[in-house]
Amino acid sequence: MAILVTGGAGYIGSHTVVALLERGHDVVVVDDLSNSSEASLERVEQLTGKGVAFIKADLTDKPALDAVFEEHTIESVIHFAGLKAVGESVEQPLRYYQNNLISSMNLLESMSSHDCWDLVFSSSATVYGDPEILPIPETASTGATNPYGRTKLMIEEICRDVAESDPRWRISLLRYFNPVGAHPSGMLGEDPNGPPNNLVPYVMQVAVGRRDQVSVFGDDYDTPDGTGVRDYIHVIDLALGHLAALDHLPKGCDSYNLGTGNGASVLEIIQTAASVSGADVPYEITDRRPGDIATSLADPTKANTELEWRADRGLEVMLRDAWNWQSKNPHGFNPPE
Ligand code: NAD
Ligand code: UFG
Repeated sequence: MAILVTGGAGYIGSHTVVALLERGHDVVVVDDLSNSSEASLERVEQLTGKGVAFIKADLTDKPALDAVFEEHTIESVIHFAGLKAVGESVEQPLRYYQNNLISSMNLLESMSSHDCWDLVFSSSATVYGDPEILPIPETASTGATNPYGRTKLMIEEICRDVAESDPRWRISLLRYFNPVGAHPSGMLGEDPNGPPNNLVPYVMQVAVGRRDQVSVFGDDYDTPDGTGVRDYIHVIDLALGHLAALDHLPKGCDSYNLGTGNGASVLEIIQTAASVSGADVPYEITDRRPGDIATSLADPTKANTELEWRADRGLEVMLRDAWNWQSKNPHGFNPPE
């Protein structure tokens, strides 16, 4: 019996595969490598001393997905695979709907036809849009502001409907806040294609000298220092959240916030990154980024109690581990020749 991890070569997936292997699970990864490389799985194998069954396939290819379930006995699935860049989703909405929705529907269909009913799905705090309540509980109203976020909301709804249709389903929708950091070994981490969209990888590339300065998107928000506040969560805590979710799958379908409940501003991230790395992190204040909100903060009480899970790595550890990864792998998994 194995756990199928879709998108397992990616950033959060690869860290979760390490945690699963360390827990003694057999793991099958399906990934089309559209935003990752097989090098991450080689590192996973080096780190754990264990093998991973890897199948390069696109989840929108239903026969290829069915073949995975026929070749392997899959007991449960963690579904990370998906496109995730907000700006790109605004420019290419159909690509996002095609990829994220078709993949998820194919997966649900293949699972049920192969008698597999346990699923953990990567949702996002983006489903809360501009939140009315802080910190945000799972009961808060939802409403995404871009096509990427809408794919997450739609997949959540599809999962709820599917779970309603057959009592065998057990589906956990994990709403991640802002995943950052890296494996403490420095062997695994986030390796974005092109200029990073997200703050921490951008700050790290400035610290390592690949980019000149960080643009701080606005200092006139209604926050303590005027810059955006987010609930950053260490990717290792997030990976462990998936193991906890597998151990505590609900009957039917339910959602859980995975965050720390603590906020950090853009300027705090820059200052902490400079202090843990010892590097200069120059920045300039620029206009707000369209679509950004002032503050996003999880109320993680439900996951703390029902999943018996807590994110306990603090900001310094997150940024120290991100720096360890970046400084050991300044060009990511595949450095230029
Ligand atoms: P990632 O891009 O590193 O990993 C996603 C993986 O899915 C990649 O390896 C990519 O090649 C693969 N993939 C994409 N489409 C596929 C398809 N059709 N078939 C097979 N493989 C496919 O991203 P990540 O940061 O590890 O995110 C994992 C999941 O978590 C995504 O669903 C993302 O939307 C969600 N999420 C991420 C964040 C974040 O800030 N990183 C926040 C909230 C939610
Ligand atoms: N920011 C900058 N400069 C940058 C990048 C970001 O100032 O170069 C600021 C943003 O304005 C925001 C904060 O840093 O205040 C964090 O921005 P990120 O892009 O790192 O993260 P977001 O909160 O905007 O979004 C991320 C993912 C979404 C996901 C969301 C919640 O990109 O897909 O977290 O999980 F939905």
